[in-house]
Amino acid sequence: MAKLKTKWICQNCGYETAKYLGKCPDCGQWSTLVEEVVETSSKQQHTKIAMNDTMPCLINDITIDNSIRFSTGIEEFDRVLGGGLVQGSIVLLAGDPGIGKSTILLQTGRAICKGGRKALYVSAEESASQVKLRAQRLKVNSDSLYIYSQTNFEAIKHQIEELKPEILIIDSIQAVYTTDISSSPGSVSQIRECTNILMDIAKNKNITVVVIGHVTKEGNIAGPKVLEHMVDTVIYFEGDRYKSYRLLRCMKNRFGTTNEVGVFNMCDDGLHEISNPSEMFLNERTKNNTPGSVIIATNEGTRPLLIEIQALVGTTSYPSPRRVSNGIDYNRLLQILAVLEKRVGLNLSKQDVYVNVIGGLEIDEPAADLGVALAVATCARDVCVSPDTAIVGELGLSGEVRAINNIEKRIKEAEKLGFKKIIIPATNTVKKEDFKNIEIMPVHRLLEAITACVN
Ligand code: TYD
Ligand code: MG
Repeated sequence: MAKLKTKWICQNCGYETAKYLGKCPDCGQWSTLVEEVVETSSKQQHTKIAMNDTMPCLINDITIDNSIRFSTGIEEFDRVLGGGLVQGSIVLLAGDPGIGKSTILLQTGRAICKGGRKALYVSAEESASQVKLRAQRLKVNSDSLYIYSQTNFEAIKHQIEELKPEILIIDSIQAVYTTDISSSPGSVSQIRECTNILMDIAKNKNITVVVIGHVTKEGNIAGPKVLEHMVDTVIYFEGDRYKSYRLLRCMKNRFGTTNEVGVFNMCDDGLHEISNPSEMFLNERTKNNTPGSVIIATNEGTRPLLIEIQALVGTTSYPSPRRVSNGIDYNRLLQILAVLEKRVGLNLSKQDVYVNVIGGLEIDEPAADLGVALAVATCARDVCVSPDTAIVGELGLSGEVRAINNIEKRIKEAEKLGFKKIIIPATNTVKKEDFKNIEIMPVHRLLEAITACVN
């Protein structure tokens, strides 16, 4: 009998080595290398597929069919995908267990089937009756949505040939396995091999494939990092499990932009779209404004979003003061604090500073700088920013307020939500007559902004 060939494969990033290593040299994670059996037969299969491929043709001769994109029936999902699912593409939906991946895809299946398309939902984690129970809860009933509870990939492949669906949903990639490989389901080799077969199905049979991948840090189940390179689109489903809203965020998209965000609310009867997220994020605000709370007009993709930032500043009882930031980059916070100390004269050397973006959101655009600086400054001086004032602007190291993009959209959103005043960078040129119900206050420097926001 031929000797089995094994390799050590990092379960986090897919790095391969012949010998065991404690630390993965590629991603730097410890104890993630697991020994897996490597088969050679699958390699030969892939060469065969590649040999059968189409002929090269001139770019000018390629015609594009306009119907290659179709709607999922859920507007927020379409927005994140860049206008809908692309026929023959492979999409990865990743997220923590229990966040609602199965729910959104079952709802998507219903919406797609309404348009007369045939969909196959492969449930590798739940039985058909469990899916039916969920479907009843979501009021999903369709005569072209097939549910198939199966983990064996060969059986799944056979059913794809039989049913010829236009959309294939795999829930989840960590639970299915192919008998070509002897590694256990969820191992990097299995995931890679199954995805390879799925890619082949998507491209050759022109079937749109949506794959669910769990994000787990430990254990034998690989995170979908390996998958990210292989698929066309990567979407993350995020949110606080203890709160009802969920965010769909695109991380990679071969057919559109990656900066769109979709917002949903998880209710008893499934996920509901939220077309105006600002209202939702602001409705928990306390009526009596507190020091250190400001509203910033940020941008999520092409959509403006008004969000609350809170700061807490207090005398430290530690040898070195604490700096904690949730939702804002830590180094960005340190930089803003340095500008406050040097340019405004705020002494924070014996003060703990905590900054929190409400709603568990992550804000990575510099346009939030001014808002963070004002939250810290007002809390340190124990004054309140007027509750009907919104703030936006980037902060330079010399304390100057710098221009930002999409200013009109941000002002419009603040005006729509009833804000009376907005502080913006003076270097942004805005036609004030376009905004009748909101006072626009351009500022050049941080100090000026502090004075403007408390009056
Ligand atoms: P699920 O889609 O099973 O998550 P995933 O596939 O990402 O693991 O969703 C599980 C959670 O969603 C569960 O905690 C219950 C909740 N949920 C609702 O609140 N409302 C609903 O209508 C459904 C179907 C689930
Ligand atoms: Mg699930």
